[in-house]
Amino acid sequence: MKGLEDVVAVETNIAYIDGITGILAYRGININDLMDNSFEEVCYLLVKGQIPSGDELEEYKRSLREARPLYDEVLEVIRACNKEADAMDVLRTAVSYMAQVDEDYTDNSMEASNRKAIKLIAKFPTIVAAYFRIVNGEEPVQPDLNLSHGANFLYMLTGKKPNSIESEVMEKDLILSAEHGLNASTFASRIAASTHSDIYSAIISGICTLKGPLHGGARLGAMEMLDSIGSLDRVEKYVNDCISNKKRVAGFGHRVYKTYDPRAKIYRNLAEKLDEDKPDITWYEVAKELETVVEREYVNKHDKPIYPNIDFYAAVTYKYLDIPPKMSTSIFALGRVSGWTAHCIEQYSDNRLIRPRAKFIWKIFDK
Ligand SMILES: CC(C)(COP(=O)(O)OP(=O)(O)OC[C@H]1O[C@@H](n2cnc3c(N)ncnc32)[C@H](O)[C@@H]1OP(=O)(O)O)[C@@H](O)C(=O)NCCC(=O)NCCS
Repeated sequence: MKGLEDVVAVETNIAYIDGITGILAYRGININDLMDNSFEEVCYLLVKGQIPSGDELEEYKRSLREARPLYDEVLEVIRACNKEADAMDVLRTAVSYMAQVDEDYTDNSMEASNRKAIKLIAKFPTIVAAYFRIVNGEEPVQPDLNLSHGANFLYMLTGKKPNSIESEVMEKDLILSAEHGLNASTFASRIAASTHSDIYSAIISGICTLKGPLHGGARLGAMEMLDSIGSLDRVEKYVNDCISNKKRVAGFGHRVYKTYDPRAKIYRNLAEKLDEDKPDITWYEVAKELETVVEREYVNKHDKPIYPNIDFYAAVTYKYLDIPPKMSTSIFALGRVSGWTAHCIEQYSDNRLIRPRAKFIWKIFDK
Protein backbone atom coordinates (compact mmCIF):
# COMPACT_ATOMS: atom_id res chain seq x y z
CA MET A 1 0.00 0.00 0.00
CA LYS A 2 1.45 3.36 -1.08
CA GLY A 3 2.55 5.39 1.95
CA LEU A 4 2.05 2.26 4.13
CA GLU A 5 -1.55 3.38 4.64
CA ASP A 6 -3.33 1.16 7.19
CA VAL A 7 -0.28 -1.15 7.47
CA VAL A 8 0.32 -2.30 11.07
CA ALA A 9 4.09 -2.22 11.53
CA VAL A 10 4.52 -2.56 15.32
CA GLU A 11 2.54 -3.43 18.43
CA THR A 12 2.39 -0.68 21.03
CA ASN A 13 0.86 0.03 24.39
CA ILE A 14 1.53 3.78 24.22
CA ALA A 15 -1.24 5.40 22.15
CA TYR A 16 -4.63 4.20 20.96
CA ILE A 17 -6.18 6.02 18.00
CA ASP A 18 -9.64 5.49 16.53
CA GLY A 19 -9.67 7.51 13.32
CA ILE A 20 -13.33 6.81 12.59
CA THR A 21 -14.84 8.11 15.83
CA GLY A 22 -11.99 10.49 16.62
CA ILE A 23 -10.51 9.07 19.82
CA LEU A 24 -6.93 9.44 21.05
CA ALA A 25 -5.83 7.84 24.33
CA TYR A 26 -2.41 7.75 25.98
CA ARG A 27 -1.84 4.43 27.79
CA GLY A 28 -5.60 3.88 27.74
CA ILE A 29 -6.53 7.33 29.09
CA ASN A 30 -8.58 9.53 26.77
CA ILE A 31 -6.68 12.70 25.85
CA ASN A 32 -9.65 14.79 27.05
CA ASP A 33 -9.14 13.39 30.55
CA LEU A 34 -5.45 14.37 30.61
CA MET A 35 -5.96 18.07 30.10
CA ASP A 36 -5.71 18.89 33.81
CA ASN A 37 -2.50 16.91 34.29
CA SER A 38 0.92 18.52 34.05
CA PHE A 39 3.10 17.76 31.01
CA GLU A 40 5.63 16.18 33.39
CA GLU A 41 2.96 13.77 34.63
CA VAL A 42 2.00 12.91 31.04
CA CYS A 43 5.68 12.26 30.21
CA TYR A 44 5.85 9.82 33.12
CA LEU A 45 2.66 8.15 31.87
CA LEU A 46 4.01 7.81 28.32
CA VAL A 47 7.53 6.68 29.17
CA LYS A 48 6.82 4.52 32.22
CA GLY A 49 3.32 3.33 31.36
CA GLN A 50 1.22 4.58 34.27
CA ILE A 51 0.17 7.68 36.16
CA PRO A 52 2.79 8.25 38.89
CA SER A 53 2.03 8.21 42.61
CA GLY A 54 2.55 11.54 44.42
CA ASP A 55 6.12 10.62 45.47
CA GLU A 56 7.01 9.22 42.04
CA LEU A 57 5.80 12.41 40.39
CA GLU A 58 7.76 14.63 42.77
CA GLU A 59 10.94 12.64 42.11
CA TYR A 60 10.38 12.62 38.32
CA LYS A 61 9.63 16.36 38.26
CA ARG A 62 12.78 17.06 40.26
CA SER A 63 14.96 15.09 37.82
CA LEU A 64 13.35 16.75 34.79
CA ARG A 65 13.70 20.26 36.23
CA GLU A 66 17.30 19.76 37.37
CA ALA A 67 18.17 18.60 33.85
CA ARG A 68 16.81 21.79 32.19
CA PRO A 69 20.08 23.81 32.01
CA LEU A 70 22.34 23.18 29.01
CA TYR A 71 25.95 22.03 29.12
CA ASP A 72 28.18 25.04 28.31
CA GLU A 73 29.55 23.29 25.22
CA VAL A 74 26.04 22.81 23.81
CA LEU A 75 25.30 26.51 24.30
CA GLU A 76 28.50 27.32 22.40
CA VAL A 77 27.37 25.07 19.54
CA ILE A 78 24.01 26.89 19.43
CA ARG A 79 25.84 30.24 19.33
CA ALA A 80 27.92 28.96 16.41
CA CYS A 81 24.85 28.00 14.34
CA ASN A 82 23.81 30.00 11.30
CA LYS A 83 21.47 32.78 12.50
CA GLU A 84 19.28 32.19 9.43
CA ALA A 85 18.99 28.45 10.14
CA ASP A 86 15.71 26.65 10.62
CA ALA A 87 15.19 26.07 14.37
CA MET A 88 14.73 22.34 13.64
CA ASP A 89 18.21 22.19 12.11
CA VAL A 90 19.66 23.89 15.19
CA LEU A 91 17.78 21.49 17.46
CA ARG A 92 19.19 18.55 15.47
CA THR A 93 22.74 19.92 15.71
CA ALA A 94 22.47 20.71 19.44
CA VAL A 95 21.04 17.27 20.29
CA SER A 96 23.76 15.62 18.24
CA TYR A 97 26.45 17.47 20.20
CA MET A 98 24.62 16.86 23.49
CA ALA A 99 24.97 13.11 22.88
CA GLN A 100 28.74 13.38 22.66
CA VAL A 101 29.17 15.24 25.97
CA ASP A 102 26.71 13.05 27.90
CA GLU A 103 28.49 11.08 30.63
CA ASP A 104 26.48 8.05 29.43
CA TYR A 105 27.70 8.51 25.82
CA THR A 106 28.89 4.92 25.38
CA ASP A 107 26.33 3.32 27.71
CA ASN A 108 23.24 2.10 25.86
CA SER A 109 21.78 0.06 28.72
CA MET A 110 18.07 0.54 29.55
CA GLU A 111 19.03 2.52 32.67
CA ALA A 112 21.22 4.88 30.63
CA SER A 113 18.54 5.24 27.91
CA ASN A 114 16.01 6.21 30.61
CA ARG A 115 18.45 8.81 32.00
CA LYS A 116 19.02 10.16 28.47
CA ALA A 117 15.24 10.31 27.90
CA ILE A 118 14.92 12.64 30.91
CA LYS A 119 17.71 14.89 29.60
CA LEU A 120 16.19 15.03 26.13
CA ILE A 121 12.69 15.96 27.36
CA ALA A 122 14.14 18.49 29.83
CA LYS A 123 16.64 20.22 27.54
CA PHE A 124 14.65 20.52 24.27
CA PRO A 125 12.87 23.74 25.45
CA THR A 126 16.15 25.24 26.70
CA ILE A 127 17.81 24.64 23.31
CA VAL A 128 14.93 26.10 21.27
CA ALA A 129 14.50 29.16 23.54
CA ALA A 130 18.27 29.81 23.64
CA TYR A 131 18.51 29.76 19.84
CA PHE A 132 15.54 32.12 19.55
CA ARG A 133 17.13 34.63 21.95
CA ILE A 134 20.58 34.42 20.34
CA VAL A 135 19.11 35.02 16.86
CA ASN A 136 17.37 38.10 18.25
CA GLY A 137 20.61 39.44 19.74
CA GLU A 138 19.62 38.61 23.33
CA GLU A 139 21.25 36.43 25.96
CA PRO A 140 19.58 33.08 26.74
CA VAL A 141 17.43 33.09 29.89
CA GLN A 142 18.30 30.51 32.54
CA PRO A 143 15.45 28.05 33.24
CA ASP A 144 13.28 28.77 36.28
CA LEU A 145 13.01 25.45 38.12
CA ASN A 146 9.86 26.58 39.95
CA LEU A 147 7.83 26.97 36.76
CA SER A 148 5.96 24.20 34.94
CA HIS A 149 7.51 22.81 31.74
CA GLY A 150 5.26 24.98 29.52
CA ALA A 151 5.47 28.20 31.56
CA ASN A 152 9.25 27.84 31.86
CA PHE A 153 9.58 27.54 28.07
CA LEU A 154 7.61 30.77 27.50
CA TYR A 155 9.68 32.45 30.21
CA MET A 156 12.97 31.37 28.58
CA LEU A 157 11.66 32.53 25.19
CA THR A 158 10.48 36.01 26.22
CA GLY A 159 12.25 36.72 29.52
CA LYS A 160 8.81 37.47 31.04
CA LYS A 161 6.71 35.23 33.28
CA PRO A 162 3.63 34.22 31.24
CA ASN A 163 0.14 34.87 32.63
CA SER A 164 -2.01 31.96 33.77
CA ILE A 165 -3.87 31.52 30.45
CA GLU A 166 -0.64 31.58 28.43
CA SER A 167 0.93 29.03 30.81
CA GLU A 168 -2.14 26.79 30.59
CA VAL A 169 -2.18 26.93 26.78
CA MET A 170 1.52 26.08 26.49
CA GLU A 171 1.22 23.19 28.95
CA LYS A 172 -1.75 21.77 27.03
CA ASP A 173 0.04 22.32 23.71
CA LEU A 174 2.86 20.09 24.96
CA ILE A 175 0.43 17.40 26.15
CA LEU A 176 -1.55 17.44 22.89
CA SER A 177 1.63 17.28 20.79
CA ALA A 178 3.24 14.56 22.90
CA GLU A 179 2.21 11.35 21.20
CA HIS A 180 0.32 10.06 18.20
CA GLY A 181 1.04 6.39 17.54
CA LEU A 182 3.14 5.46 14.55
CA ASN A 183 3.25 8.88 12.86
CA ALA A 184 6.16 9.43 10.47
CA SER A 185 8.64 10.87 12.98
CA THR A 186 7.89 8.26 15.66
CA PHE A 187 8.27 5.51 13.08
CA ALA A 188 11.62 6.99 12.03
CA SER A 189 12.77 7.00 15.68
CA ARG A 190 11.63 3.41 16.20
CA ILE A 191 13.40 2.22 13.07
CA ALA A 192 16.68 3.73 14.32
CA ALA A 193 16.11 2.23 17.80
CA SER A 194 15.40 -1.18 16.23
CA THR A 195 18.96 -1.27 14.86
CA HIS A 196 20.20 -0.92 18.49
CA SER A 197 21.37 2.58 17.69
CA ASP A 198 21.44 4.86 20.77
CA ILE A 199 18.44 6.92 21.85
CA TYR A 200 20.02 10.27 20.83
CA SER A 201 20.44 9.00 17.26
CA ALA A 202 16.87 7.71 17.26
CA ILE A 203 15.53 11.07 18.48
CA ILE A 204 17.53 12.91 15.81
CA SER A 205 15.80 10.72 13.19
CA GLY A 206 12.51 11.92 14.68
CA ILE A 207 13.55 15.59 14.51
CA CYS A 208 14.55 15.27 10.85
CA THR A 209 11.24 13.63 9.96
CA LEU A 210 8.99 15.97 11.96
CA LYS A 211 10.46 18.92 10.05
CA GLY A 212 8.73 18.08 6.76
CA PRO A 213 5.74 20.20 5.64
CA LEU A 214 3.46 17.14 5.40
CA HIS A 215 4.14 16.40 9.09
CA GLY A 216 5.15 18.86 11.87
CA GLY A 217 6.10 21.50 9.31
CA ALA A 218 2.37 21.93 8.62
CA ARG A 219 2.22 24.12 11.75
CA LEU A 220 4.56 26.57 10.03
CA GLY A 221 2.49 26.27 6.83
CA ALA A 222 -0.70 27.04 8.77
CA MET A 223 0.84 30.11 10.45
CA GLU A 224 2.12 31.42 7.11
CA MET A 225 -1.29 30.77 5.58
CA LEU A 226 -3.01 32.81 8.32
CA ASP A 227 -0.54 35.64 7.71
CA SER A 228 -1.14 35.58 3.97
CA ILE A 229 -4.95 35.60 4.44
CA GLY A 230 -4.65 38.46 6.92
CA SER A 231 -8.35 39.24 7.47
CA LEU A 232 -11.79 37.70 7.57
CA ASP A 233 -12.93 39.10 4.21
CA ARG A 234 -10.09 37.35 2.34
CA VAL A 235 -10.86 33.80 3.53
CA GLU A 236 -13.32 32.87 0.78
CA LYS A 237 -10.95 33.88 -2.02
CA TYR A 238 -8.01 32.07 -0.40
CA VAL A 239 -9.90 28.77 -0.24
CA ASN A 240 -11.21 29.10 -3.79
CA ASP A 241 -7.69 29.84 -5.04
CA CYS A 242 -6.44 26.71 -3.26
CA ILE A 243 -9.12 24.62 -4.96
CA SER A 244 -8.53 26.04 -8.44
CA ASN A 245 -4.74 25.74 -8.12
CA LYS A 246 -5.02 22.26 -6.54
CA LYS A 247 -3.05 23.57 -3.56
CA ARG A 248 -3.44 21.92 -0.15
CA VAL A 249 -4.82 23.91 2.74
CA ALA A 250 -2.20 23.71 5.49
CA GLY A 251 -3.39 22.16 8.74
CA PHE A 252 -6.29 20.29 7.11
CA GLY A 253 -6.67 16.58 6.31
CA HIS A 254 -5.19 13.58 8.07
CA ARG A 255 -4.06 10.09 7.14
CA VAL A 256 -5.79 8.43 10.11
CA TYR A 257 -8.69 10.69 11.14
CA LYS A 258 -11.72 10.46 8.89
CA THR A 259 -13.52 12.76 11.29
CA TYR A 260 -12.60 15.80 13.38
CA ASP A 261 -9.16 15.41 14.98
CA PRO A 262 -9.86 15.23 18.76
CA ARG A 263 -6.75 17.33 19.44
CA ALA A 264 -7.95 20.07 17.09
CA LYS A 265 -11.19 20.31 19.11
CA ILE A 266 -9.21 21.00 22.30
CA TYR A 267 -6.92 23.48 20.55
CA ARG A 268 -9.99 25.25 19.13
CA ASN A 269 -11.31 25.76 22.68
CA LEU A 270 -7.90 27.05 23.77
CA ALA A 271 -7.85 29.48 20.83
CA GLU A 272 -11.30 30.71 21.86
CA LYS A 273 -10.08 31.22 25.43
CA LEU A 274 -7.08 33.20 24.21
CA ASP A 275 -9.37 35.22 21.96
CA GLU A 276 -11.45 36.23 24.99
CA ASP A 277 -8.26 37.15 26.86
CA LYS A 278 -6.85 39.23 23.98
CA PRO A 279 -9.90 40.83 22.31
CA ASP A 280 -7.85 43.04 19.98
CA ILE A 281 -6.51 39.96 18.15
CA THR A 282 -8.89 38.37 15.60
CA TRP A 283 -7.17 35.21 14.39
CA TYR A 284 -9.76 32.98 16.00
CA GLU A 285 -12.54 34.53 13.89
CA VAL A 286 -10.43 34.14 10.73
CA ALA A 287 -9.71 30.49 11.63
CA LYS A 288 -13.37 29.63 12.28
CA GLU A 289 -14.38 31.20 8.97
CA LEU A 290 -11.63 29.28 7.17
CA GLU A 291 -12.84 26.04 8.71
CA THR A 292 -16.44 26.75 7.63
CA VAL A 293 -15.47 27.67 4.07
CA VAL A 294 -13.08 24.72 3.63
CA GLU A 295 -15.72 22.29 4.84
CA ARG A 296 -18.42 23.77 2.58
CA GLU A 297 -16.27 24.08 -0.55
CA TYR A 298 -14.64 20.65 -0.30
CA VAL A 299 -18.01 18.97 0.24
CA ASN A 300 -19.31 20.85 -2.84
CA LYS A 301 -16.32 19.96 -5.00
CA HIS A 302 -15.29 16.50 -3.75
CA ASP A 303 -18.39 15.30 -1.95
CA LYS A 304 -16.40 14.78 1.24
CA PRO A 305 -15.27 17.19 3.94
CA ILE A 306 -11.72 17.74 5.11
CA TYR A 307 -11.30 18.67 8.74
CA PRO A 308 -8.70 20.70 10.59
CA ASN A 309 -5.89 18.62 12.10
CA ILE A 310 -3.76 19.35 15.18
CA ASP A 311 -1.58 21.85 13.35
CA PHE A 312 -4.32 24.24 12.29
CA TYR A 313 -5.62 25.37 15.68
CA ALA A 314 -2.16 24.95 17.22
CA ALA A 315 -1.05 27.58 14.70
CA VAL A 316 -3.93 29.83 15.78
CA THR A 317 -2.95 29.55 19.46
CA TYR A 318 0.68 30.36 18.55
CA LYS A 319 -0.51 33.59 16.90
CA TYR A 320 -2.02 34.65 20.24
CA LEU A 321 1.16 33.66 22.10
CA ASP A 322 3.14 35.81 19.64
CA ILE A 323 5.28 32.86 18.58
CA PRO A 324 7.07 33.53 15.27
CA PRO A 325 6.09 31.03 12.52
CA LYS A 326 9.70 29.89 12.03
CA MET A 327 9.76 28.58 15.63
CA SER A 328 6.50 26.61 15.38
CA THR A 329 7.80 23.18 14.25
CA SER A 330 10.52 23.18 16.90
CA ILE A 331 7.85 23.89 19.54
CA PHE A 332 5.92 20.86 18.29
CA ALA A 333 9.12 18.86 18.94
CA LEU A 334 9.19 19.96 22.61
CA GLY A 335 6.04 17.92 23.19
CA ARG A 336 6.69 15.09 20.73
CA VAL A 337 10.10 14.21 22.17
CA SER A 338 8.26 12.52 25.06
CA GLY A 339 6.40 10.23 22.65
CA TRP A 340 9.57 9.47 20.71
CA THR A 341 11.48 8.48 23.85
CA ALA A 342 8.54 6.33 25.05
CA HIS A 343 8.52 4.50 21.70
CA CYS A 344 12.31 4.01 21.69
CA ILE A 345 12.17 2.48 25.17
CA GLU A 346 9.25 0.26 24.13
CA GLN A 347 11.23 -0.80 21.05
CA TYR A 348 14.42 -1.54 23.05
CA SER A 349 12.47 -3.60 25.58
CA ASP A 350 11.13 -6.06 22.97
CA ASN A 351 13.20 -5.50 19.87
CA ARG A 352 13.23 -6.98 16.42
CA LEU A 353 14.98 -5.13 13.59
CA ILE A 354 12.38 -3.24 11.51
CA ARG A 355 13.23 -4.21 7.98
CA PRO A 356 10.37 -4.30 5.46
CA ARG A 357 10.69 -5.26 1.81
CA ALA A 358 10.34 -3.27 -1.40
CA LYS A 359 8.63 -4.61 -4.49
CA PHE A 360 10.94 -4.33 -7.47
CA ILE A 361 9.29 -2.89 -10.59
CA TRP A 362 10.88 -3.31 -14.01
CA LYS A 363 11.39 -0.10 -15.95
CA ILE A 364 13.10 0.27 -19.32
CA PHE A 365 15.07 3.53 -19.40
CA ASP A 366 15.79 5.23 -22.73
CA LYS A 367 19.48 5.71 -23.36
C1 LIG B 1 -1.80 15.02 6.14
C2 LIG B 1 -1.83 14.61 4.68
C3 LIG B 1 -0.40 14.54 4.16
C4 LIG B 1 -2.47 13.22 4.61
O1 LIG B 1 -2.26 12.77 3.34
P1 LIG B 1 -2.83 11.40 2.78
O2 LIG B 1 -3.35 10.52 3.86
O3 LIG B 1 -1.76 10.84 1.92
O4 LIG B 1 -4.10 11.85 2.00
P2 LIG B 1 -4.12 12.14 0.47
O5 LIG B 1 -2.94 12.99 0.13
O6 LIG B 1 -4.26 10.85 -0.23
O7 LIG B 1 -5.45 13.00 0.33
C5 LIG B 1 -6.75 12.42 0.25
C6 LIG B 1 -7.68 13.41 -0.46
O8 LIG B 1 -7.92 14.54 0.37
C7 LIG B 1 -7.44 15.75 -0.24
N1 LIG B 1 -6.73 16.50 0.77
C8 LIG B 1 -6.08 15.99 1.84
N2 LIG B 1 -5.55 16.99 2.58
C9 LIG B 1 -5.89 18.13 1.95
C10 LIG B 1 -5.63 19.49 2.23
N3 LIG B 1 -4.93 19.84 3.31
N4 LIG B 1 -6.11 20.42 1.39
C11 LIG B 1 -6.83 20.05 0.32
N5 LIG B 1 -7.11 18.77 0.00
C12 LIG B 1 -6.64 17.83 0.81
C13 LIG B 1 -6.48 15.28 -1.33
O9 LIG B 1 -6.40 16.17 -2.40
C14 LIG B 1 -7.09 13.97 -1.73
O10 LIG B 1 -8.19 14.21 -2.59
P3 LIG B 1 -8.53 13.22 -3.78
O11 LIG B 1 -8.89 11.92 -3.12
O12 LIG B 1 -9.67 13.88 -4.47
O13 LIG B 1 -7.27 13.14 -4.60
C15 LIG B 1 -2.66 15.59 3.85
O14 LIG B 1 -3.96 15.70 4.40
C16 LIG B 1 -2.02 16.97 3.74
O15 LIG B 1 -1.16 17.18 2.87
N6 LIG B 1 -2.42 17.93 4.64
C17 LIG B 1 -1.78 19.22 4.68
C18 LIG B 1 -0.51 19.12 5.49
C19 LIG B 1 -0.81 18.90 6.96
O16 LIG B 1 -1.65 19.57 7.53
N7 LIG B 1 -0.07 17.95 7.59
C20 LIG B 1 -0.17 17.69 9.02
C21 LIG B 1 -0.87 16.41 9.29
S1 LIG B 1 -1.12 16.17 11.04
